[in-house]
Amino acid sequence: MTKYPNILITGGAGFIGSHVVRRLVKNSNYKVVNLDNLTYAGNLENLSDIEANDNYEFVKGDICNSLFIEQLFKDYDFKSVVHLAAESHVDRSISNPIEFINTNVLGTVNLLNAAKNTWMGDFAERRFYHISTDEVYGSLGEKGFFTETTSYDPQSPYSASKASSDHFVRAYGNTYGLPYIISNCSNNYGPNQFPEKLIPLMIHNIKNEQPLPVYGKGENIRDWLYVEDHARAIELILEKGGDGETYNIGGFNEWKNLDLVRLLCDIMDSKLGNPQGTSRELITFVKDRAGHDHRYAIDASKIQKDLGWEPSLQFREGLEKTVDWYFDNEQWLKDVTTGDYLKYYDDHYKNR
Ligand code: NAD
Ligand code: DAU
Repeated sequence: MTKYPNILITGGAGFIGSHVVRRLVKNSNYKVVNLDNLTYAGNLENLSDIEANDNYEFVKGDICNSLFIEQLFKDYDFKSVVHLAAESHVDRSISNPIEFINTNVLGTVNLLNAAKNTWMGDFAERRFYHISTDEVYGSLGEKGFFTETTSYDPQSPYSASKASSDHFVRAYGNTYGLPYIISNCSNNYGPNQFPEKLIPLMIHNIKNEQPLPVYGKGENIRDWLYVEDHARAIELILEKGGDGETYNIGGFNEWKNLDLVRLLCDIMDSKLGNPQGTSRELITFVKDRAGHDHRYAIDASKIQKDLGWEPSLQFREGLEKTVDWYFDNEQWLKDVTTGDYLKYYDDHYKNR
């Protein structure tokens, strides 16, 4: 039997991580080890279709536990790491920044240390691939784009923790020669996203005829990318990206929040058989997010030019697929919106 090299994916039970794990399990010659602590955002249901595959293994564990991480690297001799595990929701970082520093900064440094200590003297063919966000670049005005050379200017505790982790990755490359790659992506949407983020939260609320909480005037702009397109970019960068390189990934797809929510209402009215305009009535303007970044927009020409990557879906098509997935997976949505979710929702939205 062929023995495939081990690759570590952290955060593989989360939204983006589960799409990356599935791609690599199905397409690659790796044995995929998915390390996840199963926080509120991690859900093994996301991977039920591939969990029995021979080249897949799940390990429950915390990236903040340095002894455990060191041992894991010794046991598995990973060829590469794709690091996605993180606290990922900006609103939660505003109410609890410490958890973001622990997971996103300390957890990343633990992984870097373990990679350095285990791989030292044998860096050839190894790769520490760190998944980051466009939010590290701060907020744009009406014009311009984030490129790979835009200075870091993080504005929220979440983006500050991600920026810090990016700096540590580059510092380990510079100081110890650790082979690394970083990619910074724009807003993802699609199946399996936890309904605290804008699109699945709105889908859930439209379905349940609940108010649709739009922060401020809904004029903030995000650049949306279908999650499968991000996962495809990650696979490509892992295989073909250059050592020490950074790649920006984005959808060339900017939307004002209010326009996006209105489009979603219209799509869902059609699917639900409602008269057009019904769900738009649910839109409710609520208190703005503290320090709310105005606009993100990625210049993805480097990955386009160097690696031939392009987004594959038009936004409306991607939204239709996403809505269909949530309609077809009612139980998934029900399971994640009971218990702790209700408390989070109540605490976060009750006084807005
Ligand atoms: P997510 O919140 O859906 O998933 C995060 C996963 O990490 C969960 O499965 C969780 O259980 C796991 N995790 C959290 N803390 C852990 C710990 N201490 N030890 C082990 N596992 C832990 O996040 P996502 O939206 O899929 O984002 C994944 C990565 O991509 C993050 O690094 C995020 O910063 C980055 N990113 C996200 C987006 C986006 O739009 N969602 C865009 C760009 C970059
Ligand atoms: O840009 C990449 C980032 O995108 C990732 O790094 C983050 O992990 C991911 O969560 C996302 O961050 P945002 O803050 O942009 O995403 P969110 O879905 O929380 O919000 C999108 C926009 O919608 C933002 O302008 C805030 C607004 N919003 C959000 C929620 C949850 C609302 O108006 N109402 C809401 O209830």
